Formats: sequence, C-alpha cells, structure tokens
Amino acid sequence: MTTLLSESATPVVTTAVALDVEGITAGYGGPPIVERVSIRAHRGAITAIVGPNGAGKSTLLKAIAGVIRPTGGAVRVEGKNVTGLAPEKLVRRGIAYVPQVANVFPQLTVHENLEMGGYIRSHGVQERAEELYQLFPDLKAAHSRRAETLSGGQRTMLAMARGLMVDPAVLILDEPSAGLSPKFQSTVWERIEQVRATDVAVVVVEQNTRETLRHAAWAYVLVLGQNRLDGPGRELLHNDEVVRLYVGVLTK
Ligand SMILES: Nc1ncnc2c1ncn2[C@@H]1O[C@H](COP(=O)(O)OP(=O)(O)OP(=O)(O)O)[C@@H](O)[C@H]1O
Ligand SMILES: [Mg+2]
Repeated sequence: MTTLLSESATPVVTTAVALDVEGITAGYGGPPIVERVSIRAHRGAITAIVGPNGAGKSTLLKAIAGVIRPTGGAVRVEGKNVTGLAPEKLVRRGIAYVPQVANVFPQLTVHENLEMGGYIRSHGVQERAEELYQLFPDLKAAHSRRAETLSGGQRTMLAMARGLMVDPAVLILDEPSAGLSPKFQSTVWERIEQVRATDVAVVVVEQNTRETLRHAAWAYVLVLGQNRLDGPGRELLHNDEVVRLYVGVLTK
C-alpha cells in the first residue's frame, strides 16, 4: 500500500480511530474478492473508498458490516475486535451500514422507518428521531409519508437517518449519491458533512469520485480487490495515477 504522506508528516486527521480494518479477506465462497485490505476511519471525518467497477468496494463494506463473513483479517470498532459478528450484533457495537439498494422499508412512513432504525434502543427513540429531523429537515416535513412516495434524494436521506437512529460510531454508506440529480447529490453531501460534524466516522463508497475526494479527509483506492494507494482526498485528486485509473474516466 502506498501512503502519500511520509511517517514524519503532520497527520491530517488527529481524531480517534473508530473503525480499524486490518488485512481483511472476503468473498462469496470462490476465490477471494477482496484480499488483505486495510482501512481506517476516524470520528468526525469522512473516509472514502473509491476504485473501478467490480473492484470489490461493496464486498469490502459487506465484510465490515457482517453481511458476509471475512475469511481473514480483523475488524475493530473503537479498539474492540468485532470480526465475523452478525450484522445485528455489529449494530450494537456501533456500526450502521446503509446498502445502496433496499435501504428503507417502502411501505412504512418516514417516522416508522426511523422507529425501526432505533429498534435496539431501550429508550429515547422519539428524542433521537427529533434530533435527526433537525439534521434532515426534508424528512421532518415528510414524516408521515410512506417511504415509497419519496424522491430518490429523500430516500437516501431517510436511509442515512435510519442508520443514525442507533447513534453509531461508524456510518457506512454504499454510493449514497448514485443515480441522483446534481442538485440532490449536493444536498446529500451537505448532509453527510453535517453528520460528520456530529463526530461520527463516515465511510463512503462512491462513483462520483471527484466530489467524493473533495470531501474525504482520507481516501483509499481499491483495485482488483486490493489496496492500491491512499492519502488525503484532495491530494489524490491531483495524483496522476488516481486520475488515470478512475477520476478522468468517470466524472466531469
Ligand atoms: N453476491 C455475489 N456473489 C458472487 N459474486 C459477487 C457477488 N456480489 C459481487 N460479486 C462479485 O464480486 C466482484 C466485486 O463486486 P463488488 O460489487 O464488490 O464491486 P464494486 O467495487 O462495489 O463495484 P461497483 O463499482 O460496480 O459497485 C465482482 O466480480 C462481482 O461479480
Ligand atoms: Mg458496489
């Protein structure tokens, strides 16, 4: 793995490591799809994972979130080993995972979706929902609408808010702005920045690489299921290899 900063350089991110993925290997029963991949995400920062189609980004997220079981390596949340735990256990340990599709209950209202998101809370569900309505005003206005009637952008916000109901240390988002109009993409990024500011470690996989790298305190480039290089998002934006591999091809 190449790191763009030398050991002696001033670290860009100084906050606590919330998610530490060390040398994880995972797949679907055949040859591994991701191999010995390592990433770290800090509280209060956006960490991005970018890479070509089929690089294994979603597979990596699934392995972190317990949807598939890693065959090697370790996942730690705030220093505690959570490798191989089932998704519902990982939620209790502070990982909220928002898959790209099927991330809300379409038949339930916005508010019911939030209540479902808070199912592991023993108390404070309504209070937490109110806090999230402050963060996502679009959802407050739509609180009694069924999720299936929301626009794509509103649905993405609902999926994020639903994940946040458990007050996670780490919020993992798989392509939150994919398929949205440019206007909604920028609203989604605004909200992601607001979530980050509440001291959550936000891990984002995105296709819209240029915008993603602008927001990422640290970004990892994954190629063929392995770490290729990593560094501060804005430095990667000016890195010829990254631009050649990815940014130049896909985005404006
Ligand atoms: N459920 C599955 N069963 C078997 N193979 C899968 C499954 N899901 C993904 N794969 C394979 O794993 C590889 C990596 O896929 P993955 O979805 O992780 O890539 P990605 O980087 O998220 O791509 P994209 O940018 O298109 O979302 C691909 O070769 C894909 O065919
Ligand atoms: Mg994917």
